[in-house]
Amino acid sequence: MNISVAIDGPAAAGKSTIANIIAHRFNLVYINTGLMYRAVTLMCMRENINYTDVKGVCKIAKSLNIHFGGDKIIVNGENFTELIKYPKVSSNVSNYAAISELRKLLVDLQQKMASKCNVIMDGRDIGTVVLKNAPLKFFLTASASERAKRRCMELNGKNISAEYDKILDEIIKRDYIDSHRTTSPFIKSEDAIEIDSSNLSILDVVEVISGYIRKYIKEHNLENSR
Ligand code: DC
Repeated sequence: MNISVAIDGPAAAGKSTIANIIAHRFNLVYINTGLMYRAVTLMCMRENINYTDVKGVCKIAKSLNIHFGGDKIIVNGENFTELIKYPKVSSNVSNYAAISELRKLLVDLQQKMASKCNVIMDGRDIGTVVLKNAPLKFFLTASASERAKRRCMELNGKNISAEYDKILDEIIKRDYIDSHRTTSPFIKSEDAIEIDSSNLSILDVVEVISGYIRKYIKEHNLENSR
């Protein structure tokens, strides 16, 4: 029996940091689907393919060979992990992620990846579309101001300049586009457990999620299969 854990949440809610720790703790494969949308966006920007050119975007997406290694993403042999977190990519990615044809391609790929192993996957449509039947679904939120503060600290820590007001504005815009697009808009799955992390530390959230996973493992006698 496979374990699959879905984590959805808005930009900079701490999904990837938390999913990474949980993946190590429970020996799950971590798939960060936001990085896939970012990889397509970066490649399209390099090739001057605008998000209005749906055919061009899909051609690029099909040409990508995406590999995950922990929290790293390797695209056509190149390490994209840091490049795709740059503000230039962040401010464009929602427009590309709203293309339904692109979503179909990436969702198929994500479902294939998840079918082969025990996974923890994060994004915006994991509980509602990609892993609709996942037994463990979490919806991670935090106020926009708290998320902007965290994203600024993360970027500054990597010596990437980031102004709080600009980041806050970008996060609010991105939330809006993600939750108002026609195809699989970003919404909470009815059966997801909501965790507001505004006043919680990363480790507090990790403990809450771990508690649910441990309970599931125990109830389904999965200890020995792990
Ligand atoms: O999680 P993130 O900020 O790296 O995501 C980048 C963008 O990709 C974000 O604007 C929403 C979009 N996205 C999506 O539409 N569906 C997913 N499963 C993951 C991300």
